Parts: sequence; C-alpha cells; structure tokens
Amino acid sequence: MSEHIIVERPEEYGGAVQIIRFNRPDKKNALTQAMYATMVEAIDNGDADETVRVHVFLGTPGCFTAGNDMQDFLNYAINGRIGDGDVGQFLKALANVKKPMVAGVDGLAIGIGTTMHFHCDLTFASPRSEFRTPFVDLALLPEAGSSLLGPAVMGYQRAFSMLAVGNGFSAEEACEAGLIYKVVTEEALEATTLAAAADIASKPPQAMQIARDLLRRGQRTDVVARIEEESALFGERLSSPEARAAFEAFMMRKKSA
Ligand code: COA
Repeated sequence: MSEHIIVERPEEYGGAVQIIRFNRPDKKNALTQAMYATMVEAIDNGDADETVRVHVFLGTPGCFTAGNDMQDFLNYAINGRIGDGDVGQFLKALANVKKPMVAGVDGLAIGIGTTMHFHCDLTFASPRSEFRTPFVDLALLPEAGSSLLGPAVMGYQRAFSMLAVGNGFSAEEACEAGLIYKVVTEEALEATTLAAAADIASKPPQAMQIARDLLRRGQRTDVVARIEEESALFGERLSSPEARAAFEAFMMRKKSA
C-alpha cells in the first residue's frame, strides 16, 4: 500500500462512491510503482464490492499528476525493469474496470494523467488545468491505448498534436476535443465531480453497468490488444539511450541550473 494514494468511501454517499486520490504533492503527484499497485488494488476491491458503484479520481489543489515517476523511468532504463509490472496492471485495470470512473482535474495532468481520461466516463477540469503528453520528447510512445482511442475520440490531427508532438491542451481545448466532459471553476471542481459520481451511484447499478459496457463494447478487445502492443514498444523505448538521456536530463536539471 502506498501512503501517496488515499482511498476513501465517504459515509455521505453510503460508501457507493470510492475516491482514489493522488497525494504526493511535493513531487507533483508523480506516480510510483507502489502508487499504481495501490490503485489497482482499489479498483479491483471497488469492482468486487457491490456497495461501491463508481470510482472517482482526484489530485491535490493545483495538481492532478505529473505522470509516471521519472526516477522509476530512469531505473527501468538502467536495469531493464521496474517493479512487478504495476503500470501494465494499472493500464489494464483502466481498460477492464466494471464500474464507471469519474475524474476531477485541477492543474497539471501529464502523461498517464492525460491518457487515463480516454477511459474515464466523465472528467471535469478547472480552467487552470493543462493536459500534456511529452512522450516523444522523452523518446517514448503514447500508452494506455491512447494511440487507438486518441484518434477515435479527438480526430487524427488533434491526437497527433497531443500524443506525438506533445502540445499541451488547455481545459477548454481538451473539452472541445472530447477528452473531458466539462470545465468548472476550481472552487466548484470537487463538489461538481462528487455530485456527478453520486448521481451515477443513484441509478440502477446493473442497468448502468450494461449501458456502459454497450457504449464501450466496440473498443474493449481492441483497446486491451493495443495496450499490450504499445507496452511492448514502450518497454523497448524505455531502454533506449535517447530515453535514458532524457530522464537523466530531467533528474539533473536543477543541479546544472
Ligand atoms: N517524476 C518524479 N518527480 C517529479 C516528476 C515526475 N514525473 N514531476 C515533478 N517531479 C518532482 C520534481 O523533481 C521536483 O522535485 P524536487 O523538488 O525534489 O526537485 C518536484 O516534483 C516539483 O517539480 P518542479 O519541476 O520543481 O515543478 P515545476 O512547477 O517547475 O514543474 C512539471 C512541474 C510537472 C511541469 C515538471 O516537474 C515536469 O515536467 N515533470 C515531468 C513530467 C513528465 O514528463 N512526466 C512523464 C510523462 S510520460
């Protein structure tokens, strides 16, 4: 269990809303192996518990997440592996989750902090949010099935701009592109996100699950296959000299400033 992920099922919603919160603000909520493992466990437990009807992802004020931990990337580049495949399990959990997922983004949403919204059912974001995937800048590749879902959801050119060129999208642009559902003020963000989750939780759960499944059915098998394909290529790229150089440059940037 990672102390940097807080899992709660507030009494207020009768335990039906499970909140998974990134809570490592001093590192911009960058995600470590232990954090992925804790989230996989939370998703599995929530899916298996019939009291839980919806999962909610939140960050901390001004930061959703800076994406994968760069030290973990560097460790992979040096040692050829990190952890026990926790990232891969998290990506598959996103694609195979049974219950709806709602997210509230306030601030930076980088890497997986952006691509996870292709799997969420409703994402709200504050105007100061920015969605960015600097995969190619790090000599990496789009992940989480985003190479398939990105063009399908946003159209090819916007997907190319975000996922290949690494251009940041404002909350407004992400909404226009269909990556997120609504932009709400930062003051109203958590209340709005939780109210939407509570609304989903109040619906007949079996019908909700089947409706979600029907809406996503066209993608599901393809997405899991694409995640596997991306992951194999991503692993190769992580071990490349150009990726290692990019991770080292990030880790060293303050020392050399
Ligand atoms: N992994 C590990 N640590 C990270 C991190 C990451 N992805 N992102 C930020 N941090 C850490 C920084 O190293 C710094 O730690 P320190 O204070 O011990 O030096 C702390 O979080 C604050 O980050 P800092 O860079 O000082 O803040 P900033 O406001 O100037 O910039 C970011 C914030 C997120 C724009 C910048 O940190 C960044 O680009 N991070 C990398 C994002 C990324 O490429 N993720 C991988 C996507 S695939």
